[in-house]
Amino acid sequence: MRLWIHRHPPKPKRAPQRNSQLEETANTRLWGILRVNKRKRDVSRKKISKMASVKEMLIENIVKEESSPQNKVTIVGCGAVGMACAISILLKGLTDELALIDVMEDKLKGEMMDLQHGSLFFSTPKIISGKDSRVSVNSKIIIITAGARQQEGESRLELVQRNVNILKIIIPDIVKNSPNCKLLVVSNPVDILTYVTWKLSGLPQNRVIGSGTNLDSARFRFLIGSRLGVNPTSCHGWIIGEHGDSSVPVWSGVNIAGVSLKNLQPTLGTDEDSENWKTVHRQVVESAYEVIKLKGYTSWAIGLSVADLVRTMMNNLRRVHPVSTMIKGLYGINEEVFLSVPCILGYIGITDMVKLNLSSEEEQHLKKSADTLWNIQKDLQF
Ligand SMILES: NC(=O)c1ccc[n+]([C@@H]2O[C@H](COP(=O)([O-])OP(=O)(O)OC[C@H]3O[C@@H](n4cnc5c(N)ncnc54)[C@H](O)[C@@H]3O)[C@@H](O)[C@H]2O)c1
Repeated sequence: MRLWIHRHPPKPKRAPQRNSQLEETANTRLWGILRVNKRKRDVSRKKISKMASVKEMLIENIVKEESSPQNKVTIVGCGAVGMACAISILLKGLTDELALIDVMEDKLKGEMMDLQHGSLFFSTPKIISGKDSRVSVNSKIIIITAGARQQEGESRLELVQRNVNILKIIIPDIVKNSPNCKLLVVSNPVDILTYVTWKLSGLPQNRVIGSGTNLDSARFRFLIGSRLGVNPTSCHGWIIGEHGDSSVPVWSGVNIAGVSLKNLQPTLGTDEDSENWKTVHRQVVESAYEVIKLKGYTSWAIGLSVADLVRTMMNNLRRVHPVSTMIKGLYGINEEVFLSVPCILGYIGITDMVKLNLSSEEEQHLKKSADTLWNIQKDLQF
């Protein structure tokens, strides 16, 4: 009985109320109940949102990590060459963060996603991309492959003003975002564009490097190896000067296991040579044109050779590579031109050059290479 009274308390002994007053009281009560229910719902919602996420339940964070990358590489220009550089660098595990920059946003995003989906197979945890140079912030090495490529029959030097205009847009922002970077220029004509990049960047010359004849020398060694049936890594030979038509093969230095081919055959590389080794250099010069004619562009060999340069710098290996550097004052060259000579590469870029004992003919060729470049360079507007 008491319980019943509790649940249904007797009506208070008040004066009878008018209907409207009763309704008002009922409404007030109803609003009160609704408010209480809402409060209850809010509390339970808060409880749910406070419940730990799967990640929180799985992982106990011990210390907040420093998020800036240690070995970041950026590639500007994600065409055939840029992407060949990217995959070669990734497969060698040379970077903890790879940034890709291009003006073609859809293609860029597609390339980034495609690489990210391969993350299981290489050891670079972060791959990012963007049109804006801010994605390159804190890079150690920035590779420039942006620009127009050679068309069939077009010389590298003919590309020049188109690609200078592109560099004018790219370089100042890139350097602002990574003031301590090394710039590795690949776009053609690479020697002239390395000079332009050096001027636009304001960086010291040791930190502006052109891929230069690193690729030409690799082709040279491959072709020598093919003639002799020896692996190219055991065939030593250097192509110096311009990356392109006026490059200079250093026949005096070609050797296998220290045995100089020129000592075996003094006419090596000359017109008098009955074995016509000179054609090996001709093939080197013509090989890019041939590949472009056959497949439209060159990519794999340049990508691999660029990754090899990145490996030397990132790991401070101090290996010697033929790369394009400011050569004024050497070999009788008096102008500010960039040409390839053997350089020691390390963490801060080019630290030293190896002084070659060139024959007078080789030195003349190098000087001619420098004159060809200077004649174009001196009239450039940038
Ligand atoms: N040094 C060498 O040994 C060597 C070898 C091969 C090719 N190359 C040169 O490399 C360059 C690239 O060749 P490719 O075949 O990759 O050309 P590509 O046309 O496939 O790619 C060039 C890329 O640069 C991008 N680009 C243009 N302007 C840009 C800008 N302002 N900022 C960012 N990206 C921009 C384009 O959108 C394009 O994706 C060419 O100049 C080519 O001659 C050099």
